[in-house]
Amino acid sequence: MKRLLIVAHAPSENTRALRDAVERGARSETGIDVAVVAPLQSGPDDVLAAQAVILGTTENLGYMSGALKDFFDRSYNPLLERTQGLPCAVYIRAGSDGTGTRRGIETILTGLRWRLVQEPTSGRFALHAVVRYALADRTAVPAERYFRHYVRLLEREPARVAVELTHLFAAMDHAQASSSIAKILRVESLLE
Ligand SMILES: Cc1cc2nc3c(=O)[nH]c(=O)nc-3n(C[C@H](O)[C@H](O)[C@H](O)COP(=O)(O)O)c2cc1C
Repeated sequence: MKRLLIVAHAPSENTRALRDAVERGARSETGIDVAVVAPLQSGPDDVLAAQAVILGTTENLGYMSGALKDFFDRSYNPLLERTQGLPCAVYIRAGSDGTGTRRGIETILTGLRWRLVQEPTSGRFALHAVVRYALADRTAVPAERYFRHYVRLLEREPARVAVELTHLFAAMDHAQASSSIAKILRVESLLE
């Protein structure tokens, strides 16, 4: 079974809620094994056992948390040349826009040649994560059908947004890619 590794620094109630939401979204996918580990408890072996990774951190002093940096300090060399192309997503909890943290992480990911599966959406957890994309290397379902299915479902049952966030972000991707204001507004209203 494919494994998704979530390496998340969550030092506060808010950030634990954020991590738990990401975990719930991941676990709502069938047929994958999800492992959630704090960066100080995680290392290269966890990454080598996974087929995709989500990294979560706070922004501290304009950069990723020391805990996530320590994870990279210990893992970078052992992983170099061994995990090229690994699908990866990042979320950042920041009071401002998280730019410093994003830049820091992306520099490291460029060195490792991991593959970010989605552009960040600033102001909304800066979440890169679409678990389905990360693991299935993009779904075979046509984007328009996927959009219709999930947006209609969530419009009918808004309480499910919390566990379907990854699909909602995929729907937002599709709405933006098709430059449809109507579609963007439909997704926006679900996120409010
Ligand atoms: C030493 C330290 C430095 C911080 N620096 C930043 C910063 O540069 N930018 C920022 O947006 N937040 C900064 N924070 C705030 C943390 O990101 C925040 O505590 C964390 O996101 C927890 O979020 P919460 O208050 O929503 O629980 C800093 C926190 C600490 C402890």
